[in-house]
Amino acid sequence: MFQSKIAGIGYYVPKNVYTNNDLTRFMDTSDEWIQERTGIKERRYADRIGETTTTMGVEAAKIAIERANISKEDVDFIIFATLSPDYYFPGCAVLLQREMGMNEVGALDIRNQCSGFIYALSIADQFVKTGMYKNVLVVGSEKHSFALDFSTRGRAVSVIFGDGAGAVVVQPTTEADKGILSTHLHSDGAEAEKLAMYYPGASSGIWLDKMPEWPEQELGGLLMTKEMLEDGTAFPNMDGQAVFKKAVVKFPEVIHEALIKNNLKTSDINLLIPHQANLRISQFVQKTLGLSEDQVFNNIQKYGNTTAASIPIALCEAWEQGKIKDGDLVCLAAFGAGFTWGSALIRW
Ligand code: UT7
Repeated sequence: MFQSKIAGIGYYVPKNVYTNNDLTRFMDTSDEWIQERTGIKERRYADRIGETTTTMGVEAAKIAIERANISKEDVDFIIFATLSPDYYFPGCAVLLQREMGMNEVGALDIRNQCSGFIYALSIADQFVKTGMYKNVLVVGSEKHSFALDFSTRGRAVSVIFGDGAGAVVVQPTTEADKGILSTHLHSDGAEAEKLAMYYPGASSGIWLDKMPEWPEQELGGLLMTKEMLEDGTAFPNMDGQAVFKKAVVKFPEVIHEALIKNNLKTSDINLLIPHQANLRISQFVQKTLGLSEDQVFNNIQKYGNTTAASIPIALCEAWEQGKIKDGDLVCLAAFGAGFTWGSALIRW
């Protein structure tokens, strides 16, 4: 068995900055409300045309590949995590493969929302550990801005999310006790609808309940209708308080699980990089675990919640800022829609 490591890392955020004040042009909100509840000051939105989840992923991937000192021809597997794919199908992994002119390697899409990057990293880790692949490209990318409700009706959701991408290359390492020490994945579908975007989807039931007169004998045409856009059910639906309450329990739980598995304690963590869901959630987790501010990295203030991209963007920024040094113990943790959650412990 090999051990795997992150050999290269990169991120890309679009150039268009939208401050909280900018959002007041579209909806009834305020800088004060957004900062107080979420810590977010601004976020990036991709160009409406031309820039997609895939193209942002490509930009992040190019940097990760270069920093891993390999070429795109060396990549032998692609994993792409996103909840905002370019197409309903096929997924973004094959689109990235085409865009980058890569070899005909396997390409896998991950649909685990905010935990998507940890799930993807865990899969890469298993493939490398078994010796099946040597250079796995893992990408997390989101273009939320194309599908949010920017009217006052959607403000509780739309102010939170931002666009961006992060990527890593996972390789085998022979250095003892270095690299990905363990990953831990969990889910509980009991509250799947507490944070969900139903359409386009095959389960029209939620919407049909509201429109019982829909002619049953008709086939098709239910993937997305103009009525769904008009009544707002086409947009992401979130019970923010339910998500918050669950997140502040599951984050510490899955971090402890990783530490126990490796006979380590919270004081051994050099840097915790939580999925950037809400600054208040990260602060709560920090206090619960008894960590200092220096032990937790947050950048939600600048980018909002970029879902599958948030951990690789934060990991890359922290590394670029010299906050992760050789031998450091880095803990990644995420919680999000599904619900799904997970952690990864890395000796850098
Ligand atoms: O990665 C996982 C992704 N999701 C999360 O992590 C979400 C976790 N939850 C949260 O972050 C918080 O629940 C939110 C930030 C989403 C919302 O904060 P909250 O303190 O739970 O607010 P609320 O939804 O209970 O709304 C409180 C009030 C409401 O007004 P009334 O009914 O008290 O008059 C909302 O209509 O704030 C209002 N409101 C807003 N006001 C100004 C909701 N959104 C906004 C807004 N601007 N953007």
